[in-house]
Amino acid sequence: MKLLLTSLLAAFLALPAVSSFAAGEAASAPASGAASAPAAAAPAAAAPAAIAPVSAAKPDLAKGEASFTAVCVACHGVGGNSGTPTFPTLAQQHPEYLVKQLQDFKSGKRQNAIMQGFASALSEGDMRNIAYWVATSKAKPGFAMDKNLVALGERIYRGGVADRRIPACAGCHSPNGAGIPVQYPRLSGQHAEYAAAQLTAFRDGVRNNNLVMSQVAAKLNDKEIRALADYVAGLH
Ligand code: HEC
Ligand code: HEC
Repeated sequence: MKLLLTSLLAAFLALPAVSSFAAGEAASAPASGAASAPAAAAPAAAAPAAIAPVSAAKPDLAKGEASFTAVCVACHGVGGNSGTPTFPTLAQQHPEYLVKQLQDFKSGKRQNAIMQGFASALSEGDMRNIAYWVATSKAKPGFAMDKNLVALGERIYRGGVADRRIPACAGCHSPNGAGIPVQYPRLSGQHAEYAAAQLTAFRDGVRNNNLVMSQVAAKLNDKEIRALADYVAGLH
């Protein structure tokens, strides 16, 4: 399993273009490049039967759409635009980030009873198919709700808080909230309730699958969390 993930990751890293695509058609170009590139195929040579089907295969977007529409749509909404504030929007999220979260739910590294069940039913291939498909779906813009809070959120998001060593969120999630492929998730338009719940979970050690975010969130108080979550909801 570890080897398989490593070779998958290696294939992604060797192909910077794969992480920046946004349109559906673009997805096939870098992935087919991977299949024909000898360097990316090298790990498969060691254990062809176990590794080749996943690492060489480009994501099957049609299958991803079908699986998403059969199961995930119930909570994550049409095209991954969730209509429920506690369920995250997945549309336009970096696919590598989504795959990592699904792996973390499945392994229990990120704990959530609902998602552990759904993620456990997915193979590595299913995860990739769904993640790469939903990433091609355009996210609907969101809105900030609280004019007073949003100014505080904007200040921390852009500049951090120097004397408390809180880094600017923009440094990793980008100034417009689009995130930075492959590991820094898009926050722009995410539901404030979901974002606030995640920041609180990181702070309180409930979400434990990323050290950097735990350290960042550890320094935030409740008001700052609400302000940041409100700000990112309307950010674009
Ligand atoms: C019954 C509702 C429900 C269904 C169905 C569901 N999810 Fe989720 N999903 C959630 C909830 C709730 C969360 C937030 C979990 C948390 O708080 O950590 C979540 C979180 C996620 C995340 C993490 C997003 C992020 O921004 O970190 C991913 C990825 C995800 N779901 C993918 C899927 C996929 C793929 C399916 C279908 C196979 C699916 N979900 C089906 C409720 C659901
Ligand atoms: C040093 C880089 C870094 C900085 C600075 C940073 N983040 Fe993050 N953030 C990450 C990474 C990496 C993840 C994904 C963690 C994972 O892989 O599970 C993340 C995840 C998140 C999530 C969860 C997204 C989701 O869909 O579940 C939220 C919300 C978030 N960050 C908000 C913030 C806010 C607000 C700030 C500023 C106070 C901030 N981050 C600063 C790197 C950073």
